Amino acid sequence: MIKLFQFLVFIIIQLVLLPLSIIGYVFMFVKVLLYSKKHGISATATNPLSSRWIYHIFGLRKDEATVKMISSLPFISEIGLWMMMGPAFIANRICGYMPGLANMPEPEEATFLNFLGCRTRFFDEIMEKNVDSMDQVVFMGAGFDTRAFKYCKGKNIKVFELDKESTQKCKIEALKKAGIDCEWITFVSIDFNQESWVDKLIECGFDTSGKTLFLWEGVIYYLDEDSVKQTLKAVANSSGEGSILTFDFFSKALCSRSMKYGKFISRMTDEYFKFGIDTTSDAKENVESLLNEAGLTLVELKLMGKTTKKEKPLGGLVEAVNPSRSAGF
Ligand SMILES: C[S@@+](CC[C@H](N)C(=O)[O-])C[C@H]1O[C@@H](n2cnc3c(N)ncnc32)[C@H](O)[C@@H]1O
Repeated sequence: MIKLFQFLVFIIIQLVLLPLSIIGYVFMFVKVLLYSKKHGISATATNPLSSRWIYHIFGLRKDEATVKMISSLPFISEIGLWMMMGPAFIANRICGYMPGLANMPEPEEATFLNFLGCRTRFFDEIMEKNVDSMDQVVFMGAGFDTRAFKYCKGKNIKVFELDKESTQKCKIEALKKAGIDCEWITFVSIDFNQESWVDKLIECGFDTSGKTLFLWEGVIYYLDEDSVKQTLKAVANSSGEGSILTFDFFSKALCSRSMKYGKFISRMTDEYFKFGIDTTSDAKENVESLLNEAGLTLVELKLMGKTTKKEKPLGGLVEAVNPSRSAGF
């Protein structure tokens, strides 16, 4: 009964302030698309960034660095974000109802609208569990992730962030403008589609025998199958025993649906879903065979979304370990 009352109050406030939310959303969307297109910056990297901002303002996950950095990024308007989320925020303060976007669900409850919350929680737990026993952390396709500040700052760990040059440059400039010290992070501009990315990392001080945590969040679906496989091999062949690799994936079915229905957005952002894993049959076996082929071992797989006769998981979250250092690298 209380939940129904909360929901009704939430809907009424949302409806009254709907024009504000719509203007905020359209303004944000157009600004990101135009700026990223012009400057070659990843537009998709702004989705997890905005989500982390939302989790912070709704008190679900503290992330001061995101809040500071966001106000210095040229393509994001904090005012636009507040216009978009402000009505939901006000409604939440009045009646306690949590909107769908401020939701960090369990994997089996995840949908395409809220999977980012589920994913964020999974990777946060992996960071918390492993970071203190690592020599190095590598954020692969780091985008505008600020986990380095949340989990690695002040610790005796080497930290590397990998991404394409333009996205990385934009992030470094925003961090500096926001007064966030990032000198202790080694930024390496790479492209996973080019095999030499590991050589570049090594040139920048990466230790191939070090115990390393590799976080590859929100990236593999944008790569082709060969690049995914080569990258997995490179991780296995160039890291110490007990190193951890964690990543998320989408199902093959979702990737092909997105290619069919999301053409306009993909064309605008130049970021296409290319690689998916089949979740219609034995998803665990499919993930294991991909990892084993590269020399990695599955530790944990959490499938996102329901598995029923009709519904199949929309993707999954993976933790893998490097059981031993393969020879020949
Ligand atoms: C959806 S964003 C995720 C960013 C970040 N990991 C996060 O969760 O906030 C995808 C990121 O992968 C990067 N990326 C995509 N393809 C890449 C490639 N071939 N080489 C390097 N980085 C790539 C993009 O620049 C972008 O920052």
